[in-house]
Amino acid sequence: MILPIVAYGHPNLRKKAVEIEKDYPGLQQFLDDMFETMYASNGVGLAAPQVNRNIRLFVIDATPYADEFEGETNLKRVFINPRIKEESGEEWAFNEGCLSIPEIREDVLRKPDIKIEYYDENFEFHAEQLSGVLARVIQHEYDHLEGILFVDHINPLRKIILKRKLGEIARGITKAEYRMIFPLLKKKAI
Ligand code: NI
Repeated sequence: MILPIVAYGHPNLRKKAVEIEKDYPGLQQFLDDMFETMYASNGVGLAAPQVNRNIRLFVIDATPYADEFEGETNLKRVFINPRIKEESGEEWAFNEGCLSIPEIREDVLRKPDIKIEYYDENFEFHAEQLSGVLARVIQHEYDHLEGILFVDHINPLRKIILKRKLGEIARGITKAEYRMIFPLLKKKAI
């Protein structure tokens, strides 16, 4: 089932998500819905708070960026209760977008190497070191679990320029072609 995606300005995008247990009700169905929703909106990552579920879980499929990875085959992954333990290296710019903030893309500076611990869809534990674009996609989704959005990382002057557009998104003025929940959508008077 394709789930509606909450738009910029929604309070759930600003909350710290909570960890889940292995027996979280309907987990496999929810993961299926997450992937279906992500593919339907042409995303490479989707975090649970973006579909209005305040839990520490995100999915990625970085296959569109496959050219960037040498020898990395496992690009479709589930991250449950992830914890980034360390970020290192010299910050680099990458043009990011977000399904909750349609039609805005900005260069964001992040460190290239991460150490992350997480559970997969079978609740198997993993501790990994990742880098480059794969780490980048994960860092962006991980931020969602902390209530952080990519526009929080851009310089204040750019953010002022984007302010009007961000306000429009919150009010439902966007050309996004997937179903969304807009926090400030005004009902039309009859
Ligand atoms: Ni996002």
